[in-house]
Amino acid sequence: MEKILIIDFGGQYNQLIARRVRECNVYCEVKPYTTPLVQLRAMEPIGIIFTGGPQSVYLEGSPQVDPDIFTWGVPILGICYGCQLIAHNLGGQVTPAQDDSAREYGKTITHFDTGCKLFQGLPRQGVTWMSHGDYMARVPEGFALTARSSACPNVAIADEGRGFYGVQFHPEVDHTEHGINMIRNFLYEVCRAKGDWTMGDYKNTAIARLREKIGSGKVLLALSGGVDSSVAAALLAEAVGSQLTCVFVDHGLMRLNEGDEVEEAFAKWDLNFVRVDAESRFLLKLAGVDEPERKRKIIGGEFIRVFEEEAKKVGAVDFLAQGTIYPDVIESGAGDAAVIKSHHNVGGLPDYVDFKEIIEPLRMLFKDEVRQLGRELGLPEYLVSRQPFPGPGLAIRIIGGITKEKADILRQADFIFREEMAQAGEDKNLNQYFAVLTNTRSVGVMGDGRTYDYTLALRAVTTSDFMTADWARIPYDLLDKVSGRIVNEVRGINRIVYDITSKPPATIEWE
Ligand code: XMP
Repeated sequence: MEKILIIDFGGQYNQLIARRVRECNVYCEVKPYTTPLVQLRAMEPIGIIFTGGPQSVYLEGSPQVDPDIFTWGVPILGICYGCQLIAHNLGGQVTPAQDDSAREYGKTITHFDTGCKLFQGLPRQGVTWMSHGDYMARVPEGFALTARSSACPNVAIADEGRGFYGVQFHPEVDHTEHGINMIRNFLYEVCRAKGDWTMGDYKNTAIARLREKIGSGKVLLALSGGVDSSVAAALLAEAVGSQLTCVFVDHGLMRLNEGDEVEEAFAKWDLNFVRVDAESRFLLKLAGVDEPERKRKIIGGEFIRVFEEEAKKVGAVDFLAQGTIYPDVIESGAGDAAVIKSHHNVGGLPDYVDFKEIIEPLRMLFKDEVRQLGRELGLPEYLVSRQPFPGPGLAIRIIGGITKEKADILRQADFIFREEMAQAGEDKNLNQYFAVLTNTRSVGVMGDGRTYDYTLALRAVTTSDFMTADWARIPYDLLDKVSGRIVNEVRGINRIVYDITSKPPATIEWE
């Protein structure tokens, strides 16, 4: 499989670069800038991309590369810091921008030399997204200037003979018009990519590899019903079928019909599907607990116990499978020591279950690729395009103490909200949306009678990373319809409020 290496210098858009490359059907991996050149060479990439980064190349201690990378003969595209790094290493000069006019932030009208391979087929002028305080005072020998803005004569440089290109702006962000075409040009015109990264191919290769690795071994997987664990399960089911056991723990705080939907989605495979109805067990533990962190701890702890019991019934397993995805394992080039984020979908499991090895069949995939793979495997759309759902489930959406009655009220209300959003097509504009059962009761009037029932809050947000989020501007008429349906159809709720706080200062969930 042909491959692009993305060398990470700690910029904020680095994963986005990787996603863009893969969107162009070329496989890529992100490596920290500290990765030794021999290791990079061993990966045999067809091209390299240097990312942006927060530092200045001329300062001591700034992230650098082994200069031999420039004599290796592999094409390089440098973005922002990466562009300055090329200039700095090959005899150019990078300095702090002397006056504010040479410093550029935000959308900038840029003129391109469309004779340069990078800008081939593009309009001569377009908006680019700039974010740099340093300036290339002298361009290295052999390089031509291939783009300019009114503030800056050298927005892009190219040495087409050696296949080195540098841009001061960020082609990977949506704000840069035609940015994806520039990346595609680098991949196809400069690196001569064939574009062999497609999900159908990936699926077949992954299945073959899993079969080879697992042999006749037994595999155990904790299936949460979320996108990642479901796709991992489907891939393993396709690969090794009856050697796979999936344990789905229903803690009683799932959404309406969720357990049935998950079970149904896996009915077509010949695997051991263990569905544990643990509702009463979880509710007993949670009775009278209203502190959010305690709820989380109780659920996490109990989950492990239930899973462990089921694992014992299965007997010795060879592999424990997890739905870890690429953003969870990516190493960052920021800081001195490379930080590896380790993430387990179900915290702590490996300590409790006896197994020989962990397999993570999705660890090279981004979320949208995981969804695509799920579709290739024939999982239903409602499962693969599902919004995130927290491990503790409705427990952190029922404010205060949890009872089955409250969980049932919330399940029905949440179902109506989701159904109406989907019917109106509004779900496509939202990244997460759900209902919260507050523990506030208020007086209402229904028919001729007085009511004293719960207040339900609706929450809907748009976000790209879930670290910050905006409350969604859902049309009033739609909110009105949802509100009308819920108070009429769900007993126990007589008032609906809509949450109009962003994150920060609020969080997405209420607990
Ligand atoms: P907050 O509420 O922190 O949520 O803005 C950010 C994202 O994380 C999800 N979330 C959780 N997921 N276990 C999970 O697996 C949890 O305890 C948990 N708490 C929040 C939340 O749904 C949102 O997508």
